[in-house]
Amino acid sequence: MKTINIGIIGGGLMGREMASAFARWCALEDVSVQPVLTAVADLNPAALAWFERIPSCTQRTADYHALLANPAIDVVYVAVPHNLHESIYCDVLAAGKDLFAEKPFGLDLASARRILAAVEKSGRYVRCSSEMPFFPGAQRAFALAKAREFGRVLEVVSGFHHSSDLDPTKVANWKRKSATCGEIGVLGDLGMHACHLPLRLGWKPKRLFAQLQHGYSTRPDGKGGTTECDTWDNALVHGWSDIAGQEVPVRLEMKRLAPGATNTWFVEILGTDGGVRFSTAEPKTLWLFERGKEQWWKRTELGFGTPFKTVTGGIFEPGFPDVIQQMWAAFLMEREGQLGDRFGCATPEEAVASHEIFAAALASQTGQTVEHVG
Ligand SMILES: NC(=O)c1ccc[n+]([C@@H]2O[C@H](COP(=O)([O-])OP(=O)(O)OC[C@H]3O[C@@H](n4cnc5c(N)ncnc54)[C@H](O)[C@@H]3O)[C@@H](O)[C@H]2O)c1
Repeated sequence: MKTINIGIIGGGLMGREMASAFARWCALEDVSVQPVLTAVADLNPAALAWFERIPSCTQRTADYHALLANPAIDVVYVAVPHNLHESIYCDVLAAGKDLFAEKPFGLDLASARRILAAVEKSGRYVRCSSEMPFFPGAQRAFALAKAREFGRVLEVVSGFHHSSDLDPTKVANWKRKSATCGEIGVLGDLGMHACHLPLRLGWKPKRLFAQLQHGYSTRPDGKGGTTECDTWDNALVHGWSDIAGQEVPVRLEMKRLAPGATNTWFVEILGTDGGVRFSTAEPKTLWLFERGKEQWWKRTELGFGTPFKTVTGGIFEPGFPDVIQQMWAAFLMEREGQLGDRFGCATPEEAVASHEIFAAALASQTGQTVEHVG
């Protein structure tokens, strides 16, 4: 199998998650490439030390420029605070490496557009991380919507809820401050996830009204004191999209203060003749609406029908680590020109389109206005 050498910049929560997806790559049955984690860069010595458990990861450095200078590395995945995305993404491209970027694709719309220009100039292969559409239920919802199985679409809701900000005693990190998380706050944090399927279906809102909410204004700083927190924590974006010649409400929901939700991504598409609901709260379950003489919501247990086949039995439940691995399989197979008709990762253009939505949402909140998008 062809090996692809990967470097990770930012060995925190997501850097480790990606490393573990490579480590169990043998679970995949129908891929022609094998990622090999070769290098990691992180400023934190404890983060670097974690990677000692991965024998192939022989370069562990505090200086990401040293990783970029390593000629063996083919692809670089970057998972650092949002204020560093643009500069590090552009450095990766300038070093002649392919890039798997984390969301958001830059701190704001202007930043996203500059990154896109650098991508186009470099000619490198670049995609943006967004793994939730790789759940089997999300794939089925996408396929049905693409095939226009629902009659006239009446309403679309796509969202991501978690509740990690509900606890006021939780110590503030870079995600709670606009300087490092971005003025768009939760939109940048969770927005690519909510926008991915609607954008792939061509359902980008053309105008919108947004309601943004702050969370706690101060939090413990982890050193015995408190620190200011100024990011938007919840966002409801009420958009209008053109779907098959009709104006349709498309609501995007992104919440870090959603009571009861740990990490719930969901999509719901309702039409005159049918509909679909999928939520990661029920990871193997698909709800399908049918209308006949009577009306039904049918519950199907999809099991482990992932886009790339695996050794895992078909009756088992998919989870977060599985869809992370599926996303990497899609990234690497598309890079080889072997994606076929499978679902591909979010493109730089889709990432910029998501920023157009976030910028309009911010303007809408500020002016209490309906804003045109893009
Ligand atoms: N796709 C997803 O589901 C998902 C989930 C969580 C986070 N994310 C994204 O992943 C990225 C990282 O988030 P996280 O939760 O892993 O954060 P984190 O704080 O756990 O990790 C970030 C790491 O970057 C390191 N770092 C900071 N500056 C650096 C530099 N100059 N050079 C090298 N390393 C540096 C930090 O030391 C830290 O270890 C963000 O873009 C975030 O939005 C994606």
